[in-house]
Amino acid sequence: MPSIIYLAVSAAAMTGLAQLASAQTNITASACVAESVYSDCNRNVADTWRSCINNCNGNGDCIVDCGCTAHQQYINCMAHSCWNQVYSCEYQLFVQQYFAVCPSATEPIPFWPAPDNAPNRCSCSLGKVLTNTLSARQAQLSCVQNITNQALNDIPDLSNLGNLANIPDIARTATDCACCGASASLSSAWQVCPNTVPTLAGADLWPLFFPSTFPNLYTSIPNFAWSTCDNTLSSTDCANLGFSDTDNKYYRPGDFPQNGTSTLHNVAGTVTAPPSGTVITWSQASATYTVTATGVDRGVVAGASQTDEC
Ligand SMILES: *[C@@H]1O[C@H](CO)[C@@H](O)[C@H](O)[C@H]1NC(C)=O
Ligand SMILES: *[C@@H]1O[C@H](CO)[C@@H](O)[C@H](O)[C@H]1NC(C)=O
Ligand SMILES: *[C@@H]1O[C@H](CO)[C@@H](O)[C@H](O)[C@H]1NC(C)=O
Repeated sequence: MPSIIYLAVSAAAMTGLAQLASAQTNITASACVAESVYSDCNRNVADTWRSCINNCNGNGDCIVDCGCTAHQQYINCMAHSCWNQVYSCEYQLFVQQYFAVCPSATEPIPFWPAPDNAPNRCSCSLGKVLTNTLSARQAQLSCVQNITNQALNDIPDLSNLGNLANIPDIARTATDCACCGASASLSSAWQVCPNTVPTLAGADLWPLFFPSTFPNLYTSIPNFAWSTCDNTLSSTDCANLGFSDTDNKYYRPGDFPQNGTSTLHNVAGTVTAPPSGTVITWSQASATYTVTATGVDRGVVAGASQTDEC
């Protein structure tokens, strides 16, 4: 990832990080396949995270890096000793937090998003809502890049003053890109989880992942406002601009379906074996991890909503 994006986002992400350093994953350790191993693992991560931050001497990018690593290690704890909870709302929310605080986070992430019909999964596929948001952002970046390239190609021909007439077109097309990106991201919460309260389903991911300070998202349109996208979306085919959304839902600001009313909960079912096999290997920008699941021989493990053990 180009460092300019990294720096800009890390500054924005900084504010929340101080509190985050003491945040937990919100996974209930007692529901894990190996409770005490999992608790120890998390405690180690928290300790390492704290000393990592102390060694940064206040350097923002360094602190952000510590947060990235800590979140990766929390994910490793899950893979190691709490693999039976990886489809839960709690883990899906944790991965959401990882993407929010770590600008270099990239898919794929272990166990995420939860497959359709996974046992003990979150009632709303939070992972799917976030992957839609991330791909909408990528599509908006490509869309803006495309029109920027076209504008640059036109500039050498300054001898022809007629080309200046194209400048309003650039802003208009940039607005098309931004309206499609916002719509694709925002629609996702309603589309993927129509019965869930939108804010719980991820309706707030758009302002978080598409801030006005994010580089190259709003080129030529510094005062972009989602609320003005009704007309644009009525006359724009987002798919033609490179946006792809599984079900092609691009709701307009004034035209969203009714809000769901359900809260998040984990559906019944039990994960009885490590979902990706006993040994998983995964990578992020700075590291590759190999994690071996423990407690595999313990047979059926209680799901989050059950307390029986064998
Ligand atoms: C954990 O729970 C707290 C309190 O409800 C909440 O503020 C925080 O966002 C949660 N964190 C995650 C990763 O779900
Ligand atoms: C980029 O612009 C070119 C030229 O107008 C167009 O043919 C192409 O489809 C565009 N790509 C995307 C992804 O919008
Ligand atoms: C539906 O939810 C959205 C997001 O929380 C909110 O902005 C909107 O006001 C809600 N609409 C109604 C009719 O309650």
